[in-house]
Amino acid sequence: MLVTTLGRMCGIIGYVGASSAEDVVLAGLRRMEYRGYDSAGIALVTADGLAIAKKAGKLANLEKVLADQPLPPATTGVGHTRWATHGPPVDRNAHPHISDDGKVAVVHNGIIENFAALRSELERQGVELSSDTDTEVVAHLLAGAYDSSTEPATDRFAAAMRAVCLRLEGAFTLVAIHTDHPGQVVGARRNSPLVAGIGEGAGEYFLGSDVSAFIAHTRDALELGQDQVVTLDVEHGIAVTDLAGTSLQPRRFHVDWSAAAAEKGGYPWFMLKEIDEQPAAIADTLRGRLADTGQIVLDEVRLSDEDLRDIDKVFIVACGTSNHAAMVSKYAIEHWTRLPCEVELASEFRYRDPVLDRSTLVIAISQSGETMDTLMALRHAKDQRARVLAICNTNGSTIPRESDAVLYTRAGPEVAVASTKAFLAQLAACYLVALYLAQARGTKYADEIATIVAQLNKLPDAVAETLGRMDQVRAIGRELAKEPTILFVGRHVGYPVALEGALKLKELAYIHAEGFAAGELKHGYISLIEQGTPVVAVVPARGRNSVHSKVISNIQEIRARGAKTIVIAADGDDEVAPYADHLIHVPKTPTLLAPVLTTIPMQVLACEIADTRGLDVDQPRNLAKSVTVE
Ligand code: M6R
Repeated sequence: MLVTTLGRMCGIIGYVGASSAEDVVLAGLRRMEYRGYDSAGIALVTADGLAIAKKAGKLANLEKVLADQPLPPATTGVGHTRWATHGPPVDRNAHPHISDDGKVAVVHNGIIENFAALRSELERQGVELSSDTDTEVVAHLLAGAYDSSTEPATDRFAAAMRAVCLRLEGAFTLVAIHTDHPGQVVGARRNSPLVAGIGEGAGEYFLGSDVSAFIAHTRDALELGQDQVVTLDVEHGIAVTDLAGTSLQPRRFHVDWSAAAAEKGGYPWFMLKEIDEQPAAIADTLRGRLADTGQIVLDEVRLSDEDLRDIDKVFIVACGTSNHAAMVSKYAIEHWTRLPCEVELASEFRYRDPVLDRSTLVIAISQSGETMDTLMALRHAKDQRARVLAICNTNGSTIPRESDAVLYTRAGPEVAVASTKAFLAQLAACYLVALYLAQARGTKYADEIATIVAQLNKLPDAVAETLGRMDQVRAIGRELAKEPTILFVGRHVGYPVALEGALKLKELAYIHAEGFAAGELKHGYISLIEQGTPVVAVVPARGRNSVHSKVISNIQEIRARGAKTIVIAADGDDEVAPYADHLIHVPKTPTLLAPVLTTIPMQVLACEIADTRGLDVDQPRNLAKSVTVE
């Protein structure tokens, strides 16, 4: 028998209220599909018991099933959209899973590490399991733990959930319904995301993997912590307890973006919309944090100047695109603060036993605030007594909640799997943190900070201007759409931009792409270049200590070996023109800030190539937006 753990990084929604649960749950799943699209399913508590529909593949497949065979009316339900790590994404493994008595339906995100032992135990008791998943075990355990004599009756299902959670090892968000409690949804979380929404009407409540699940209905939400169990009850409201049953008061927060922000708004792809939202993402991230005096004001940073003066080393931990933002910010932090700064892939950080202590500042960068690798790196840092500051785009998520301080990027919801506006907002936030450190530690005078602040304030307009020039890049994208390999090179802050360009192209267009530090070409990579190999090169601004002329030499070297060169350079810089098959100009901006502009052609190029190849730009194969497993 194939036994696999499935359903690792998924979108979950639960609803109780007066509206059609099917409509609310399906709409929530549509907004969360970016979290996984291997299968989708829904379960409702109806007058005749549970009603369930589930289907492998994208949500559209489930919607077709429901159009052909509508479910009976119900006002309580759960839904799930799944990203699988192992095993086939087939109908039987789609969530929700049902208990053997047919009374409990459960959806799950995470991995139940001891599920094999629990499964054997259930099989010994004669329970027949019908899927390959770890989740189904929970459905049977919930039915087994349910005690119809527990008082008060309103806590009965939650008590079963607490008892089951105590038996589970690993990471999980669970959301479940029970036919004996038609007005209730019960959820629990450990190391996987879950937030609660408080509906505008009386007796309407939501659970979601993130607020996008219910943003069309409410912007008021509750943070749910580790090992907490939440009951949504149409009559009695929301109750939260720990696993011992002790009542807790969760923190309430207001989401400052609207449902419209999470819709496509007439664009064919979320990614295109999000690329166009970048001027606002940067402006919003900077707003209110730059005082007229040139002083940086970071209210959410709860570290005193004394704490900051104590710091003698900075680590930045992050994954994927967020790691590229970290690499850019290393240049700014070291240059502006003279503090040594190391950038680490979060997935590697804690396994190499880094040297951390109370004088270390660890900055964790994450759009979602739920990336498990980054969360684990953060916890490791805290265990070593380091101070932790999060740069995050998602209010109420786990990473900022567990950090000593947080600076929120204000990019708004990012739905496309490929990160764009969140990246630019992260860069803006990183510059702010670097200046804040420089200010607190006195490594920059106020007038120097004011000058950089003035340059930062020009970025939203410069981004808008860059976006207005992208027709040329789209044409290049169509020209390159059939290429088997595209290389990206840059130096200094252009190097992480090259890495980001290659990552965007790989994840969206499934084309082999690599990013290099241009100076490394001659140490091996240059042998990849054949006649016509496209190479995208980022030329830094001219200036003191600039590697401008060195990058131009590198471009000459690759052109001499037959490369087709696509060069990104600042306005007025035509020195490279003789060696560029295509020359893309972006507005001139200081070297350290240039990645905010030079990344944009990379994003547009990848998007255009993927679209020309007929691919799903927003939901590339095998990926999910929020990676909540290690
Ligand atoms: O939510 P996070 O910023 O922690 O996510 C980190 C990476 O998973 C993410 O940036 C990923 O690399 C994107 N798909 C890149 O476009």
